Amino acid sequence: MQPELFQEGLQIVGQSAGIRRVIEVIEKAARGRWPVLILGETGTGKELVARAIHRASGGGPFVVIDCSALVGPLAESELFGHVKGAFTGAIASKPGLFALAHGGTAFLDEVGELPLEIQAKLLRVLQEKEFRPVGSTSPRKSDFRIVAATNRDLAAEVEKGTFRRDLYYRLNVIRIRLAPLRERKEDIPLLVDHFLRRYGRGHRLTREALEALLAYDWPGNVRELENCIQQLVALHSGPLIHVEHLPSPIQNFLASRRPRTVAAAAAIGSTRGQGHLARSPGAPGPPPTLAELEKQAILQALEYTKGDRAEAAALLGIGRTTLYRKLKEYRCEQLELFDSSRPPER
Ligand SMILES: Nc1ncnc2c1ncn2[C@@H]1O[C@H](COP(=O)(O)OP(=O)(O)OP(=O)(O)O)[C@@H](O)[C@H]1O
Ligand SMILES: [Mg+2]
Repeated sequence: MQPELFQEGLQIVGQSAGIRRVIEVIEKAARGRWPVLILGETGTGKELVARAIHRASGGGPFVVIDCSALVGPLAESELFGHVKGAFTGAIASKPGLFALAHGGTAFLDEVGELPLEIQAKLLRVLQEKEFRPVGSTSPRKSDFRIVAATNRDLAAEVEKGTFRRDLYYRLNVIRIRLAPLRERKEDIPLLVDHFLRRYGRGHRLTREALEALLAYDWPGNVRELENCIQQLVALHSGPLIHVEHLPSPIQNFLASRRPRTVAAAAAIGSTRGQGHLARSPGAPGPPPTLAELEKQAILQALEYTKGDRAEAAALLGIGRTTLYRKLKEYRCEQLELFDSSRPPER
């Protein structure tokens, strides 16, 4: 890997085969000025990769062009600039984004959002390497490298007719696909370390908390993981971050994976068992106490019999009064779920 890729703020962290391939392609792309198309879900690191390519190819200006904002009458002037008096309000001439990118990189972010009429104009710029500011008769030249990114399936957009095929071919010279984080979970521990070093004050995760982060599927990808770590270090003085500290989307995910009866038992949460009943599944830990196992069996029996205590007692092989006593002991008797006045539904 080239040292440039490690410069402040541009470190591409990861050990998965996918990330290693991305770094190789960045190095190759940096040897020329070919257009690069970066594909990937939101938060997978498209802009980070675009900046790394730019940095590794020798710098100059890096101009971000947010294609989703290029709508309406001012879009053309944004891209190509305008001359004084070109339209009402054009009190001075103004260079467009392509002129500003001269000698560097024009990063077309969210290129899949580009309106069709701007796509046609962009194609001309890419073919002729020149453009005309709004209101001007003379074309201007600008020499820049194009890096485009999108979270859309651009090939599918081409088939649908919402993205020009000729523009797609122009942009898709070197293609980089960033896999979603859930498909490269081996990068998670490195990313966690990286963000803890960047934002933490000596914070560390317990093994159980890290396992929970590994199990979660990160719909917001690396950005969501980065936010999660920022949130954790902001809210907890640390140094140890436990699974209970993790933000609610991860808690909800863990709860959804827990078997129902265990979840119910954990919700009652009376004994020290709550801690490990709430563990992420598969996580090694101390065994539950016999009392916890008994409570779990009772809850499961009641759930199975839809609250019919006589039937539950029979299933458990204990007398009804014993069941009542144990329910009292485990403080389960007021739970609506186990209200024996409800008619049995089975
Ligand atoms: N491999 C990585 N190593 C280190 N940081 C990363 C990595 N991938 C992403 N990040 C960080 O995650 C955050 C989101 O990345 P970035 O903005 O590049 O994503 P994006 O794909 O452009 O997202 P969007 O589609 O939402 O615009 C940034 O702070 C970025 O630095
Ligand atoms: Mg982005």
